[in-house]
Order: sequence, then C-alpha cells, then structure tokens
Amino acid sequence: MSKVYLLRIILLTLLMIPVILHFFSESAFSFTSADEYLTHAGGSGSCTSPQCHIQFETGEKAFRHEPAVAGECNVCHTAKAYPNKYGLEPNQSIICSGCHKSIEHEIKSSRFVHGPIKNGDCTSCHDPHGSDRKFFLKASYSKMCSLCHSLKGLYAGEFIHKPVEDGNCGLCHDPHASNFKSRLTDTGANLCLTCHEDMVAGMTRDYIHAPLIKSGCTDCHDPHSGGNKLRLKSPVDQICFTCHEEKKNELNQYTRKHKPASEGQCITCHSPHYSEIKYLLLDEIDTLCYNCHKENIVWKERRFQHGPVAQGNCTACHNPHGSDNAFILRLSFPHKFYTPYEKGKYNLCFLCHKEALVTTEKTRTATSFRNGDINLHRLHVNQQKGRTCRACHDIHASDQEDHLREEFPFGSVNIPIYYFKTETGGRCIPGCHKERGYDRVNKVENRN
Ligand code: HEC
Ligand code: HEC
Ligand code: HEC
Ligand code: HEC
Ligand code: HEC
Ligand code: HEC
Ligand code: HEC
Ligand code: HEC
Ligand code: HEC
Ligand code: HEC
Ligand code: HEC
Ligand code: HEC
Ligand code: HEC
Repeated sequence: MSKVYLLRIILLTLLMIPVILHFFSESAFSFTSADEYLTHAGGSGSCTSPQCHIQFETGEKAFRHEPAVAGECNVCHTAKAYPNKYGLEPNQSIICSGCHKSIEHEIKSSRFVHGPIKNGDCTSCHDPHGSDRKFFLKASYSKMCSLCHSLKGLYAGEFIHKPVEDGNCGLCHDPHASNFKSRLTDTGANLCLTCHEDMVAGMTRDYIHAPLIKSGCTDCHDPHSGGNKLRLKSPVDQICFTCHEEKKNELNQYTRKHKPASEGQCITCHSPHYSEIKYLLLDEIDTLCYNCHKENIVWKERRFQHGPVAQGNCTACHNPHGSDNAFILRLSFPHKFYTPYEKGKYNLCFLCHKEALVTTEKTRTATSFRNGDINLHRLHVNQQKGRTCRACHDIHASDQEDHLREEFPFGSVNIPIYYFKTETGGRCIPGCHKERGYDRVNKVENRN
C-alpha cells in the first residue's frame, strides 16, 4: 500500500468526523429552517400521534408533567427558538417561571442561588415531561447532585451522617435557592434541631455553649461525614483545645495535673452543648467527683461534713483541672504529720478561717481549742515540730465532732484518736500522748 493512499484514507476519515458527529447529535432535531420546524410542530395536536412522540403524553411514567400530558408541547418547544436544539429557549427558567411563579419568586428573593439555576438550567435535575420520581427528578437525590459535584469528599469519612448516607441532601440544602450560605434550609443550630428534636429543649437551658449560639453545630461536627466518632472535627480529647488554647497552656504550666483534664476528657465533667449548671457542668460538682472517686462517697454518710464538702463545693479547695500544689489544691497545705510552722503553709485553710487561730498565743476569741486562754492550736501547730491540721482533723468528713479524725496514718499503722467534747472544752486520747483535757472556763492542769 502506498503512503499517499494511506494518507488519503486518513484525511478522508478525518473529514468524515464532523459529518458523523452531526448525524448523531442533530438526528433527533434536523430541520433546515424555522418554517420546516414550524410545520413539524404546527399545533399541539400534531406533536403526538400514535406514530410520533406519543410517549410524552401517555407514557407510563409514575409522575407526569401537566403541560406534556395536556399536549401543550409548544409552551416549551417553539419555532421562535429555532435553530436552538429541540426548539428550546436556552434559558429554560424563563419558560418554567412562566407557570411556576413561586419558584421564580423564591429565586429572585434569595441571597444564594444555585449555579445551574443561575444558568436557567432547570432540566439538569427535572425531566420536563415526567419521570418515575416525584417532582420528575431525573435521578435519585444524591446521584443528581453528583452529576456536577464530586461527592467523594462528603462520604470520605468512616462515620457518615444518616441523612447523607440516605442521599437526603435536600433536607439540608434547598436545591434552588435560599437566604442561607450553602443554600441551607435553615441557619445555625436550627438546621440541625429540625431533626434532633431531643436537643430543642436543651437550647432553653440557662447556660449554652457559645459556639452553638454563634455558629451552630458545625464548628465541632461535620454535617456530612468524618473520620472521628460523631464526625467531630478533631478527636474528642482534642476538640476542646482547638478553641480553648488558654486551658491547654494553663494545664501545661501546672506541676500537678488532674488526669481527666490533662488527658482531654473534658466531657466527663462538661457538656459540649448546654447545661442548667454554670460552666456547662454535667452535674453537681461533688456528684461529678464521686462518679470517679467512688470510694469517697462514704463521706456523705459521715455524721459531720466539712462546710464546703456538705455544700458539694469540692472545687473550693481543689482546682478540677490542676494546680501547683499536692492533691491539686488551690492553695498550699502540707500533707505531712509534722512540719515546722511557716506563714503561708496553711493558706488553703485561711481562705475561710482566721489565721489568728494559729498565731495568737493567748486568746479568748480566736479559737475554742484553748485551755483557759492558752491557744492549743498555736501550741500544736506553730512550732518547729508543728503538727499539721490533718494530724487532728479530717478535711472532708468525720464521725467525730469538730471534724476530728478517728484515726491517723502514722508510718505504717493507723493510730486512733478518741475525742470527747464537753460544754466548755474536751478531752483527747490520741496515740501521741496520754489523755489530756482542756477547758475554756476552768483551765485544766494536765499531768504529764
Ligand atoms: C415544560 C417544557 C416542555 C414541555 C411541555 C415539553 N417538552 Fe419536550 N423537551 C423539553 C426539554 C427542556 C427538552 C430537552 C431535553 C431535556 O433537557 O431533558 C425536551 C426534549 C424533547 C424531545 C427530544 C428529546 C427526547 O427526550 O426525545 C422531544 C422529542 C420532545 N421534547 C417532545 C415533546 C413533546 C411531544 C411534548 C408534548 C407532548 C413535549 N416535548 C413537551 C421541554 C418540554
Ligand atoms: C404551561 C405551564 C407550565 C410550564 C411552562 C412548566 N410547568 Fe411545571 N407544572 C405545571 C403544572 C400545571 C403542574 C402541576 C400543578 C402543580 O403541581 O403545580 C406542574 C408541575 C411541575 C412540577 C411538580 C410540582 C409538584 O409539586 O409536584 C415540577 C417539578 C415542575 N412542574 C417543573 C417544571 C419545570 C422544570 C419547568 C420548565 C422546564 C416547568 N415545570 C414548566 C405547569 C407548567
Ligand atoms: C440541582 C437540581 C435542581 C435544579 C437545577 C432545579 N430543581 Fe427544582 N427541584 C429539585 C429538587 C431536588 C426538588 C424537590 C424538592 C424537595 O424535595 O423538596 C425540586 C422541586 C421543584 C418543584 C416542586 C416543589 C416546589 O418547590 O414547588 C418545582 C416546581 C421545581 N423544582 C421547579 C424548578 C424550576 C423552575 C427550576 C429552574 C429554575 C428548577 N426546579 C431547577 C431540584 C432541582
Ligand atoms: C447542573 C450542575 C449541578 C447540579 C446537578 C448540582 N449542582 Fe450544586 N452547584 C453547581 C454549581 C455550578 C455550583 C457553584 C456555583 C454557585 O455556587 O452558584 C454549585 C454549588 C453548590 C453548593 C455550594 C453553594 C454555596 O453557596 O457554597 C452546594 C451546597 C450545592 N451546589 C449542592 C448541590 C446539591 C445538594 C445538589 C443536588 C440536589 C446539587 N448541588 C446539584 C452545579 C450543580
Ligand atoms: C444534615 C444536613 C446536611 C445534609 C443532609 C447535607 N449537607 Fe451539605 N452541607 C451542610 C452544611 C451545614 C454545609 C455547610 C458547611 C459548613 O458549614 O461546614 C454543607 C455544605 C455543602 C457543600 C459545600 C461544601 C463546602 O465545602 O463549601 C456541598 C457541595 C454540599 N454540602 C453537598 C451536599 C450533598 C451533595 C449532600 C447529599 C449527599 C449534602 N450536602 C447533604 C449540611 C448538610
Ligand atoms: C434530616 C434530619 C437530620 C438533620 C437535619 C440533622 N441530623 Fe444529625 N442525625 C440524623 C439521624 C437520622 C441520625 C442518626 C440517629 C441515630 O442513629 O440514632 C443523626 C445522627 C447525628 C449524630 C450522632 C452521630 C451519628 O452519626 O450517629 C450527630 C452528632 C448529628 N446527627 C449531628 C447533626 C448536626 C450537627 C446537624 C446539623 C448540621 C444534624 N445532625 C442535622 C438526622 C438529622
Ligand atoms: C463545642 C463543640 C460542639 C458543638 C458546637 C456541638 N457539639 Fe454535639 N457533641 C460534641 C461532643 C464533644 C460530643 C460527644 C459528647 C459525648 O460523647 O458525651 C457531642 C455529641 C453530640 C451528639 C451525640 C449524642 C449526645 O448528645 O451525646 C449529637 C446528636 C450532637 N452532639 C449534636 C449536636 C448538635 C445538633 C449541635 C448543635 C445544636 C451540636 N452537637 C453542637 C461537641 C459539640
Ligand atoms: C469552636 C470553638 C469552641 C470549642 C471547640 C469549644 N469551646 Fe468552649 N467556649 C467557646 C467560646 C467562644 C466560649 C465563650 C468564651 C467566653 O465567654 O469567655 C466557650 C465557653 C466555654 C465554657 C464556659 C466558660 C465560662 O466562663 O462560662 C466552658 C466550660 C467550655 N467552653 C468548655 C468547653 C469544652 C469542655 C469543650 C470541648 C467539648 C469546648 N469548650 C470546646 C468556644 C469553644
Ligand atoms: C473533673 C472535672 C473537670 C474536668 C475533667 C474538666 N473540667 Fe473544666 N471545670 C470543672 C469545674 C467543676 C469547673 C467550675 C469552676 C470551678 O469550680 O473551678 C470548670 C470550669 C471550666 C472553665 C471555666 C472556668 C475556668 O476555669 O476557666 C473552662 C473554660 C473549663 N472548665 C474548660 C475545661 C476544659 C477545656 C477541660 C478539658 C481540658 C476541662 N475543663 C476539664 C470541672 C472539670
Ligand atoms: C473522669 C474521672 C474523674 C473525675 C470526674 C474526677 N477525678 Fe479526680 N482523679 C481522677 C484520676 C484518674 C486521678 C488520678 C489518680 C491516680 O493517679 O491514682 C484523679 C486524682 C485526683 C486527686 C489527686 C491528685 C493528685 O495530684 O494527687 C484529687 C485530689 C482529685 N482527683 C479530686 C477530684 C475532684 C475534686 C473531682 C471533682 C471536681 C474529681 N477529682 C473528679 C479521675 C477523676
Ligand atoms: C476544705 C478543703 C477541701 C474540700 C472542700 C475538699 N477537699 Fe479533697 N482534699 C483536701 C485536702 C487538704 C486534701 C489532702 C489531704 C491530705 O493531705 O491528706 C484532699 C484530698 C482529696 C483527695 C485525694 C485523697 C483522698 O482522700 O482520696 C480526693 C480524691 C479529694 N480530696 C476529693 C474531694 C472531693 C470529691 C471533694 C468534694 C466532695 C473534696 N475533695 C473537697 C481538701 C479539700
Ligand atoms: C471554702 C471555705 C473553707 C475552707 C477553705 C476551709 N474551711 Fe473549714 N470550715 C468552713 C466552714 C463553712 C465551716 C463551718 C461548717 C462546719 O462545721 O463544717 C468550717 C468548719 C471547720 C472546722 C470545724 C469547726 C467546728 O466548729 O466544728 C474545722 C476543724 C475546719 N473547718 C478545718 C479546716 C481546715 C483544717 C481547713 C484547711 C484544710 C479548712 N477548714 C478550710 C469552710 C472552710
Ligand atoms: C492537735 C490537734 C489539732 C490540730 C493539729 C489542729 N486542730 Fe483544729 N481543732 C482541734 C480541736 C480539738 C478543735 C475543737 C475545739 C473545740 O471546739 O473544743 C479544733 C477546732 C478547729 C476549728 C473550729 C474553730 C476553732 O478554732 O475552734 C477550726 C477552724 C480548726 N480547728 C482549724 C484548724 C486548722 C486550720 C489547723 C491547722 C492549721 C488545725 N485546726 C489544727 C484540734 C486540732
């Protein structure tokens, strides 16, 4: 075969391409003039005959469009629009709007109009004649959207939101137009609350987390899908820090960190949404603490509970997040049995009690723990081998009056303390020394 011959065949084939293309594309609409088309479409009746286009009028679609059923083909197909394909206006929305005034109004009065609608491309989603879907939709909802949008990203995460999984995009996005960004059907939290009805009441609580009011739910939850449980935008133990950086810094600085806080389990104490209790707490403070510190619930059964403990105010003394003091205490308090007295060491107690308790030598007012006017608190605490408050008192609760401990741990043994209270004083039989008494009115002479 000669080269020239081959070239000719190639050239001829190339020349044929437009002809072939023309054949396929225009075959369904191949009129040569407006007149010819006018003749073809000369009156509604003539469009549909047993031979021609009858399927548009009587087709077995479950949902059929009124004007097609009525044979009013020429409201859409007009010779005027020739030579446009199928005799159609390029901007169909003008035609559709002629009858669908409410849609026209919706589009005109909305801030955000969908791309295809701006282009008048109503039939990218609707079959103008009818279809087996309600509203003559051309495909299932999500398939329809995927004609123009890559939905990969929306379904990328392992955890897919139920309405997204079901392809019910329209429950959140108006397919035409709306006044809310992304053409959402509602704004902020309301969008989500239309389905999450059980949370509606929550939004009337006294304390609502600021993001829910400011921007709704999507600061934290991806509305479509995500790699974290509940589609949280960060793992649950980090999400709070994305906004509360100050808390992260604060925690980093503490030498003593409360484990649940430093591990980011903020939601064991705080609701991410709302609460009836200040600081979005999930429950009364002491209940929260006892949830984890179960062994301490016995404090509630003791005869005498320390003021703030009785009030459930554990955080009067403990910082729930952390601190620079042992036992995450807000202020210093020595955890020893003996410690030399120094000003400042007992600051925790002196947040609520008077320091004179341990500083005045002789007093008739600063404390009841005195023999005559000799301050026994000072005697025990304020010296080189000072006894700490916890040597005698149980800070949380006790069965003995004045929060006296029943026993104290000394080395590896527990030494009992027997305390007998009288009208004007008391007697004590601790492991430390023999029975001693004190009386505020008639000073007791204790023998050694
Ligand atoms: C509401 C407007 C509207 C009405 C009414 C309408 N059509 Fe159409 N028709 C269109 C549009 C738009 C297209 C272009 C195809 C598409 O976008 O789905 C089309 C396409 C067609 C086509 C070519 C494509 C195909 O599906 O075969 C024929 C033939 C047709 N219509 C016939 C009719 C006949 C016959 C009637 C009356 C019984 C009718 N149409 C009524 C809007 C309409
Ligand atoms: C000649 C008037 C006319 C034109 C033009 C027209 N429609 Fe309709 N359409 C109707 C009538 C009448 C109904 C049935 C009554 C109703 O449900 O509103 C209807 C129903 C519909 C429905 C279903 C509504 C429902 O609630 O079930 C959709 C969707 C629709 N039309 C879309 C379109 C689109 C898209 C166009 C443009 C391509 C269009 N229509 C053009 C008259 C028209
Ligand atoms: C991106 C796809 C899409 C486009 C483009 C689109 N629609 Fe729709 N349309 C829908 C869907 C989806 C529904 C069903 C809404 C629902 O489920 O509430 C609908 C519903 C309708 C309805 C009936 C319900 C109603 O709101 O009255 C009419 C009428 C309608 N569309 C007309 C139009 C017209 C006119 C255009 C062009 C201006 C258009 N549509 C363009 C997707 C689309
Ligand atoms: C015919 C093509 C087409 C179809 C079908 C389509 N879209 Fe779009 N969509 C666009 C274009 C173009 C834009 C971008 C232009 C714009 O925002 O106006 C867009 C933008 C969007 C946006 C972003 C809007 C914003 O304000 O940021 C959302 C959300 C959206 N589409 C949802 C949908 C959903 C849901 C469906 C299915 C019901 C759908 N689209 C079907 C073409 C389409
Ligand atoms: C539960 C409500 C909800 C459902 C269901 C939903 N979306 Fe969205 N979508 C949103 C919200 C809210 C936004 C705004 C994004 C944001 O604020 O983070 C959005 C944004 C979008 C955007 C814009 C993306 C961007 O990054 O700007 C597209 C596109 C989109 N959605 C498509 C879809 C499609 C397609 C479906 C159905 C498969 C769907 N959506 C289902 C709530 C939803
Ligand atoms: C159209 C109804 C609907 C809307 C609107 C809606 N949701 Fe949902 N959502 C559901 C359903 C259904 C479930 C699954 C409930 C179940 O399995 O118990 C769900 C589950 C959830 C869950 C639990 C985790 C999961 O996926 O099972 C979260 C979190 C959630 N939705 C957040 C949101 C947020 C945020 C919005 C607003 C952007 C929103 N939802 C809007 C219907 C909705
Ligand atoms: C500040 C971040 C944040 C915001 C804003 C937020 N959530 Fe959540 N949401 C969470 C976290 C964290 C959880 C996990 C709670 C848990 O496991 O106890 C959660 C859990 C959920 C759950 C699962 C059921 C439950 O209550 O444990 C649903 C449903 C939910 N959110 C819906 C919403 C809705 C609806 C909104 C808006 C009204 C919203 N969320 C706003 C962080 C947030
Ligand atoms: C999207 C940002 C954002 C995220 C994520 C976030 N918060 Fe907030 N949070 C705020 C804002 C803003 C305030 C109000 C700040 C203010 O008033 O000082 C606030 C206030 C609070 C308050 C009340 C403070 C007060 O003084 O009343 C608590 C408690 C709280 N957040 C806990 C959390 C927890 C726990 C998480 C994680 C589940 C979390 N936040 C996640 C933005 C966020
Ligand atoms: C053990 C329970 C508990 C944990 C865990 C916890 N908190 Fe708190 N948080 C509280 C309590 C109780 C308060 C109330 C203020 C008080 O009594 O000191 C509070 C107060 C707050 C406040 C407002 C006052 C302040 O101190 O700034 C913010 C913000 C806060 N927490 C954020 C967080 C964050 C973020 C986390 C996770 C890193 C977290 N919390 C973990 C119990 C907890
Ligand atoms: C989610 C569980 C949880 C909750 C709620 C909780 N804690 Fe803790 N707490 C812990 C864990 C875990 C430790 C560390 C125990 C360990 O290291 O042996 C701890 C340790 C402590 C310590 C000893 C700290 C140290 O540095 O020695 C104190 C004191 C304490 N918690 C008080 C509280 C108080 C007060 C509350 C209520 C505001 C509370 N806890 C709520 C889990 C919790
Ligand atoms: C008046 C201050 C104060 C109050 C109020 C208080 N605590 Fe304490 N707590 C302390 C002190 C001081 C220690 C350290 C005791 C020690 O040094 O032996 C401590 C130790 C602890 C410890 C670690 C040792 C242990 O006994 O398990 C836990 C847990 C604890 N407190 C929980 C709580 C809880 C829960 C509440 C609220 C019901 C609470 N505290 C209220 C001062 C207080
Ligand atoms: C947040 C305030 C507060 C702090 C801090 C505090 N207390 Fe108290 N304390 C009270 C209140 C209120 C009472 C009175 C109610 C009662 O008897 O518990 C009280 C009573 C007492 C009593 C019993 C008094 C009596 O008349 O029976 C003792 C003992 C005591 N506190 C010791 C301490 C010690 C030790 C500390 C330091 C670890 C301390 N308190 C820290 C508030 C506080
Ligand atoms: C040697 C044992 C002992 C030590 C140590 C001790 N207390 Fe006491 N405390 C008592 C006794 C006993 C009472 C009861 C006095 C009475 O009412 O008869 C008491 C009573 C109190 C009271 C009630 C008011 C008052 O002064 O009568 C407070 C408050 C108090 N102690 C705080 C402290 C603090 C704070 C410390 C540590 C700085 C401390 N105690 C150390 C034995 C002790």
